[in-house]
Amino acid sequence: MKADQIVGIQWGDEGKGKIVDLLAQKYDAVARYQGGHNAGHTIVVDGTTYALHLIPSGVLNPDAVNIIGNGVVVSPEALIKEMKQFDGLLGRLFVSESAHMILNFHILIDQAREKLRGKKAIGTTGRGIGPAYSEKIARGGFRLGELRDIDALTANVQEYFVQNKPILDALEIERPDEADIRAELTDYAEKLLPYLANTTQMAWKLLEDDKRLLLEGAQGTLLDIDHGTYPYVTSSSTISAGACTGLGVSPKDIGKITGIVKAYCTRVGNGPFPTEDFGEEGDRLRKQGNEFGTTTGRPRRCGWFDAVACRFASRINGCDDLSVMKLDVLDGFDEVKVCVAYEVDGQQIDHMPLDMEHAKPIYKSFPGWDKTEGVRKFEDLPETAKSYLLAIEEMTQTKIGMISTSPDRNDTILL
Ligand code: GDP
Ligand code: IMO
Ligand code: MG
Repeated sequence: MKADQIVGIQWGDEGKGKIVDLLAQKYDAVARYQGGHNAGHTIVVDGTTYALHLIPSGVLNPDAVNIIGNGVVVSPEALIKEMKQFDGLLGRLFVSESAHMILNFHILIDQAREKLRGKKAIGTTGRGIGPAYSEKIARGGFRLGELRDIDALTANVQEYFVQNKPILDALEIERPDEADIRAELTDYAEKLLPYLANTTQMAWKLLEDDKRLLLEGAQGTLLDIDHGTYPYVTSSSTISAGACTGLGVSPKDIGKITGIVKAYCTRVGNGPFPTEDFGEEGDRLRKQGNEFGTTTGRPRRCGWFDAVACRFASRINGCDDLSVMKLDVLDGFDEVKVCVAYEVDGQQIDHMPLDMEHAKPIYKSFPGWDKTEGVRKFEDLPETAKSYLLAIEEMTQTKIGMISTSPDRNDTILL
């Protein structure tokens, strides 16, 4: 059996949680493989809303196993807090023993660096993601499995403070007392050790036993550390390839890849966003789309669908199809716009330039429609909405497999 995958195609918050939850009803296991609690995946079932940050969005299927892979950076504190929402997770939630931990000082470093960046701040979620991944790459990180030996781990954390003293002093981050470090780590160990596992072996076994495994991406392609709008990106590989390093499955283990995309576009935090609408229509998208962050509550920047960026994202992820989300948010607009090319230095280009800051969108307009909210059949959509969707398929060179018309699990058109 091959694993299927869900990836974000824009700057995150596309609606991955809704689709993973919907699909998870038919899967035996769901795995996260990158990111951390910077993610906020919302699921709405029969009027009840769940916001997940670390626990995979398969948790609402009582028969599915949920895996947090080695590539995720795990804040033990955030995970323990999130676990309290659900009963009976033991035997249903497995966390990689080699996943790196986000400890309190990573969060302090993230926040202090953002302050120092001033106007050039990335607008991170302030969750310690960048520092935890930096330390992992610099080989100075701490893995969850190390919680099995509190003496050694406490000594290693203290050693970290000694080695990094000049930097931590400059950032005004104080070294905690040994007793405090030990107490915190002991608490994490007590609560999390029963959940630790070799999740790579687990994933292989699931596939060998012909079980269905769904890979849940966090963030989005345009926030990818290599292929996104650097430096205004997150610190992980958000593209489909991230599942290989972040869970230990090989590229040959991956089957269908579905890209999740909004029918328009949003971004939280700073950095280039060519189709951002600073006027009334942007405000209207924010209001109709309830575009406020699940993790930080920040208002999201809003604008039009960017077919150039989406075509790039579909190609780099190898998307078999797209799920177009939040079509209903465009209800009532007289016309909707799509960016079909950019103008850079007076020249028209049809690909993403290195420096997106100076890319001006060239738009094509489409007639709007009255209402798609809650529609569950393609044939029940207004003709103008159908034309818009067919144009997206053509411009992104990717077929559409699902269309979402409300936050609810059931308001989804399957094609
Ligand atoms: P994720 O990070 O990709 O999982 O997305 P988020 O949960 O951060 O943000 C998506 C938001 O849109 C959530 O509040 C969802 O409940 C909501 N949502 C998802 N699909 C739809 C849809 O088709 N229509 C509307 N109006 N809202 C949706
Ligand atoms: P989900 O999984 C939207 C953004 C932050 C910031 C940049 C770097 O819900 O789609 P970080 O804290 O990761 O160092 O911040 O990335 N960001 C997200 N934006 N959705 C997310 O996750 C995000 N996770 C990080 O706003 O611009
Ligand atoms: Mg989100």
